[in-house]
Amino acid sequence: MGSLSGKRILLGVTGGMAAYKAVELLRLMTKAGADVVVAMTHAATKFVQPLTFRELSYHPVAIDVFDEPKEGLMQHLFLADSCDGIVIAPATANTMAKIACGIADNALCTIVLASTAPVILAPAMDSDMWANPVTQENVARLRARGFHFAGPGRGPLARQGKEGWGRMLDPEDIFKITVDVLTRSKDWEGLRLLVTAGPTYEAIDPVRFVGNRSSGKMGYAIAAAAQRRGAEVTLVSGPSSQPVPPGVELVRVQTTLEMREACLAVFDKVDACVKAAAPADFRVEEPAQEKIKKEGQSELVLRLVRNPDILAELGAMKKNQVVVGFAAETENLIAQASEKLRRKNCDLMVANDVTAPDAGFEVDTNRVTLVYADGRTEDVPTMQKERLANLLLDRIGELVRKKKA
Ligand code: CTP
Repeated sequence: MGSLSGKRILLGVTGGMAAYKAVELLRLMTKAGADVVVAMTHAATKFVQPLTFRELSYHPVAIDVFDEPKEGLMQHLFLADSCDGIVIAPATANTMAKIACGIADNALCTIVLASTAPVILAPAMDSDMWANPVTQENVARLRARGFHFAGPGRGPLARQGKEGWGRMLDPEDIFKITVDVLTRSKDWEGLRLLVTAGPTYEAIDPVRFVGNRSSGKMGYAIAAAAQRRGAEVTLVSGPSSQPVPPGVELVRVQTTLEMREACLAVFDKVDACVKAAAPADFRVEEPAQEKIKKEGQSELVLRLVRNPDILAELGAMKKNQVVVGFAAETENLIAQASEKLRRKNCDLMVANDVTAPDAGFEVDTNRVTLVYADGRTEDVPTMQKERLANLLLDRIGELVRKKKA
């Protein structure tokens, strides 16, 4: 039995240089037992002949919605509509923009719009197109709606001599992510999870604050993934511009004290708590009631006082809950994280070296080491935060089940 046996997959191919790699992806999926139907955009047919996909998938290739029904095509369009998953590789910026807006002007986009199956997008484009805010906004919208992303990776791009983000992942990696997504069950059904995310803002005066550069991406990714896996999720979030994951109970807070209160309100009802937030350790002792004016002041001294450590507090009061902390370090990663785990009585500490360019604040990827209470450590390679979220939920789920056993 292959890892995808019995699964019907729609493979969408859009017009990018990487279109030829979709042939290898198709081969991997059919070898794993999947029944694959291919839909191509017109642009994709300029790169690879539909014939190649037809011969390897044993199905006609869908291109236009208004094609004369070729033998078996409509039937297979229907099959695609009721498929177990949709994989779009390569996914161009153009196709992602259309999907984000609900445009359905070709067979592929029509099927995506009509389908409720999980969709995996493997972006492939020039690094400038990837970095463009409009593409990033579309990606964020799609993520928030539950679309899965496989990549992009970093490396040489089609434009000569250029290197950067936007390279499509290798077919083997897209295949692995596909298996991961399509075979994952609702293993968090019946469990409650508390996640914290983002920074906190500690007021200096009504318009200024002390804060940090946390984006909230990791916490939001964990909350969204847990909800998709069946968990009942409360997300306590500091100020963050991340889109709200559907189906998640969101509690918005500003300060560490508010975050503490929101966590304490639900902690005894949850099975696990993941503290991905970066709450400020200090707050301004006496925030000004009115906006501070600079006239007549050559310096401004702010007195900061300690905020409570929420994670340590939850660790101290935990009964059966699995408590997970994050440790952002710049040196002695494992030693510092192990010490934090002990001090805050956690079950798992997710340690990341924030000096690495592919980890930490404001980036889409993360590379971490997991430090467990029993002293075990596990190195996790660089991956998208969305994928890391699922890996963490796998591990935390095991710890929850162990405690309940
Ligand atoms: N944390 C918390 N409450 C705080 C500060 C941190 O709950 N007031 C949590 C974070 O959400 C994270 C973990 O503690 O899960 C680690 O935070 P970090 O700032 O790295 O650790 P600290 O113990 O504050 O140590 P230091 O800043 O000195 O490295």
